[in-house]
Amino acid sequence: MGVTFDAPTLIATKRDGHRLTDAAIDWLIGAYTAGTIAEEQMAALLMAIFLRGMDAGETARWTAAMIASGERMDFCDLGRPTVDKHSTGGVGDKITLPLVAVVAACGAAVPQASGRGLGHTGGTLDKLEAIAGFDPTLSTARLRAQLTDVGAAIFAAGALAPADAKLYALRDITATVESLPLIASSVMSKKLAEGAGALVLDVKVGSGAFMKSVPQANELAELMVELGAAHGVPTRALLTDMNRPLGATVGNALEVAEALDVLAGGGPDDVVALTVRLAAEMLALAGISDKDPAATLADGTAMDAFVAMVAAQGGDLSVPLPVAACSETITASAGGTMGEIDAMAVGMTAWRLGAGRSRPGQRVQAGAGVRIHRRPGEPVCAGEPLFTLYTDTPERFGPARAELDGGYRVVPDVPNTPTAPRPLIIGAIP
Ligand code: URA
Repeated sequence: MGVTFDAPTLIATKRDGHRLTDAAIDWLIGAYTAGTIAEEQMAALLMAIFLRGMDAGETARWTAAMIASGERMDFCDLGRPTVDKHSTGGVGDKITLPLVAVVAACGAAVPQASGRGLGHTGGTLDKLEAIAGFDPTLSTARLRAQLTDVGAAIFAAGALAPADAKLYALRDITATVESLPLIASSVMSKKLAEGAGALVLDVKVGSGAFMKSVPQANELAELMVELGAAHGVPTRALLTDMNRPLGATVGNALEVAEALDVLAGGGPDDVVALTVRLAAEMLALAGISDKDPAATLADGTAMDAFVAMVAAQGGDLSVPLPVAACSETITASAGGTMGEIDAMAVGMTAWRLGAGRSRPGQRVQAGAGVRIHRRPGEPVCAGEPLFTLYTDTPERFGPARAELDGGYRVVPDVPNTPTAPRPLIIGAIP
């Protein structure tokens, strides 16, 4: 007769700092996915894991059980190499949008299972749904056809790792997101189930990331790279800066517009640089060495790939992107140079304006968010606009301004005190 388990005993096991066995983990994930473990029991277990952690063996088994909770796709016979990237979540991180198009334009195919915003961080699906008609639900047959014809698809994870979809939503509302084994297993279960032949991870580090320090981010990156290798998927991780927001916009439609600027050969330097670097890493893992990712932004082939992907998923880029009903601009009270802008403060500001959710399933405001007019290191004159805040619900301006206050500083110009820019790429594993 098999071992029988019950949720209260396993919660107590982890609460008291002990290991969960492989069989216990398989049972927990299976029973939670099937709905026989109550949400409050899983919430208690998640908090116990958050506080006590899981070792590498437990995390590997937790990940495997989440993969086994749904279907696992396979694109070995597609006729193009497949490769994907995943970011652990940041503020203003719209990189996926230009990136999938660049990589597709270079000849690989990108099956990108994406999620919605989590906490103060934005989600790729929320951004793409700012485009009129865009549909992130794709059947496996349509996904396969789109990868063959266009080379890129961004879709809701759906039947992939359904255990993660439930756990992700529960973690978001129980203050259990920032746990290393829970983040690693969440990211890797979706990405390994999606069937890409290789994977590049963008592990964010800094105030606006879930990992605040480089050692923490290194540990997360190593764990995820090992999980990828254990499942036969070559995986490389870059550690990238998330102390300041990426680019000059935070919020769904605002970020789509900025991604389109990048695809048109313009856009902010940091968004372009990270897109090109991640594309180079993906192409190297996919075995494509004769293509220049930057050239696809200059010659319009990446834009063509993006337009084709959006059209294949019902999106209409000729319809203007939504603009929020109300805006307020914050101007400089004195001149100087824009100092650091805190990514967490800007992420929380956008969230307060309605760009993110405070309840699962809530609708986000497509036009809500923040436009940054002066980025760190840029000169500022008194009276100039620094930030514009957008929302459909003006009662949100007060709480949003309170989040942004203290999150930036215009520093008076003092001769001979240049500010050293922080590098965008902090490290790589392996
Ligand atoms: N991205 C994910 O997919 N899961 C997490 O837990 C965090 C970021």
